Amino acid sequence: MSQNIYISTPLYYVNDKPHLGTAYTNIIADIFNRYQKLFGSSSFFITGTDEHGQKCEQTAKDLKIPVQQHCDQMSLTFENTWKALNIEYDLFFRTSFNYHKKSVQTVLQKLYAQGDIYCSKYEGWYCVSEEIFYKKKDLVEGKSPSGQPVTFLKEKAWFFKMSKYQKPLQEHLEINPQFIRPLERQNEIQAFLKKPLQDLCISRPKTRVSWGIEIPFDKDFVTYVWVDALLNYIVGAGYLNREEHFEKYWLNAKKIHFIGKDILITHAVYWSCLLMALKLPLPQTIFSHGWLLNKNLEKMSKSKGSKIDPLKLSKRIGEDELRWFLAKETNLSKDSSISISYMLKKINEQLADNLGNILSRVSNLIDKYFEGDIPSYKKEDSLTKNFQKEKLNLREEKEFLKTLTENQVLKMEGQIREFQLSQALQGVCFILSEINRYLEKKAPWKLIKEDKNQAALVLYNSLEALRICAILIYPVMPKKMLKLLSFLGETPDFKHVKWGRLPLGKKLRKTPILFPRIQKNGGDGRI
Ligand code: ME8
Ligand code: MG
Repeated sequence: MSQNIYISTPLYYVNDKPHLGTAYTNIIADIFNRYQKLFGSSSFFITGTDEHGQKCEQTAKDLKIPVQQHCDQMSLTFENTWKALNIEYDLFFRTSFNYHKKSVQTVLQKLYAQGDIYCSKYEGWYCVSEEIFYKKKDLVEGKSPSGQPVTFLKEKAWFFKMSKYQKPLQEHLEINPQFIRPLERQNEIQAFLKKPLQDLCISRPKTRVSWGIEIPFDKDFVTYVWVDALLNYIVGAGYLNREEHFEKYWLNAKKIHFIGKDILITHAVYWSCLLMALKLPLPQTIFSHGWLLNKNLEKMSKSKGSKIDPLKLSKRIGEDELRWFLAKETNLSKDSSISISYMLKKINEQLADNLGNILSRVSNLIDKYFEGDIPSYKKEDSLTKNFQKEKLNLREEKEFLKTLTENQVLKMEGQIREFQLSQALQGVCFILSEINRYLEKKAPWKLIKEDKNQAALVLYNSLEALRICAILIYPVMPKKMLKLLSFLGETPDFKHVKWGRLPLGKKLRKTPILFPRIQKNGGDGRI
């Protein structure tokens, strides 16, 4: 069923260039977005950069360049990285856009006018690298819960009456048990909401942070960077600027926010309350995935220096291969530790030896014995020529591949809807292994000498199953699957997944080289 889909990633801080952890979210979101398009939905996919706040200001100061210049350079680096990784977003949003600044001010003015914002005093421990205030009880050995330094502050401040929305949010979670996914994160938020919800400090004094959006009713203050950044989700969809677009992709869309588990509370709680205050619909799903860990089982992070450069890595192993590995070999709900040697092993096994092997086996025989045409076979011939038993086997095996692919086709949309990406790809990998097994068993390279018609049938079946698999995994490896499909004279279209579309006797294009084996060039961890 065609529907409007809205997909977002976090807006990344520009304190450093992207690493494999940030690339992970964008690759996963891009794959889901491409699946939605494949299934016929109309989708809007937004990513971007979060450019205000003390953290960004400090980074520019350390680099001795003007803040705006730093933001421009860094957001360009993000954009270029996403392009190199085949991330096909519809909007690259920057919080430094003028229309964003105006919209944030309009929103604050509106919340102030309706009595949801008030003035008071704030005291607490502020963590610059997370841009978050902590209470004394939240500190662990004098640091933030994740071990970052904090400083004590006491100042005049503006507050959003978040406490007012605690009850409605609790109710929302009860009625929508799949609002936050995976389930354990929904439980976490429900537990968090059992304690009284504090009002949210939404201002920073300009004396401390000048790099931000001025509070429209108090020019001594700028907006807390999280409020500024979260509002991107609606401003980017068109709120207060492109009303028709907003209607289509927010008010009448299924909305999914992809985030990491580190920013669950800001999204599940702050953002939900802000939307409720604005009387706007909440997203259907906040999907909060686990972390990519390095070899020492630490979270890869911009501020910690334990990161892998996704561009270098994708140059070494291929961007589609990187996308494949992350989609197939990580469990989105859990943390995943990454090692380069494991990555190479899996890519070689699944892409070079499994998928690539089918293509080279089949296309070699087709070139040699069928002049590069899709093998034509006659049904009657094989029925009359062979022994009854052999004939039945062949029919059954053809049916087996056909049934396997048809079953996977039926499951695919549901698995993607349920965020079971790795399971869906496992299903496709199983079909690929079965095609190879079928080829080995039938040995068309021998069969061709005894019964060309039977050999043609075996090659046709293998190619047909491969064609359907290529459509099913196109969103994961768009470049390579496009090459494979165009070799077969096919396009990535979910309406084409029916068995038997491949035209008999049609000339094939030159066989592409898709997945050469990647050689290890050194020990574990070297890219
Ligand atoms: O939090 N594994 O930006 P940020 C998996 N600006 N995902 C990871 C990761 C890892 N090791 N490291 C980072 C911010 N990520 C705010 C967001 S949104 C309105 C504002 C991903 O640059 C993951 O998606 O710190 C995580 O939530 C995000 O990067 C944090 O990016
Ligand atoms: Mg972070």
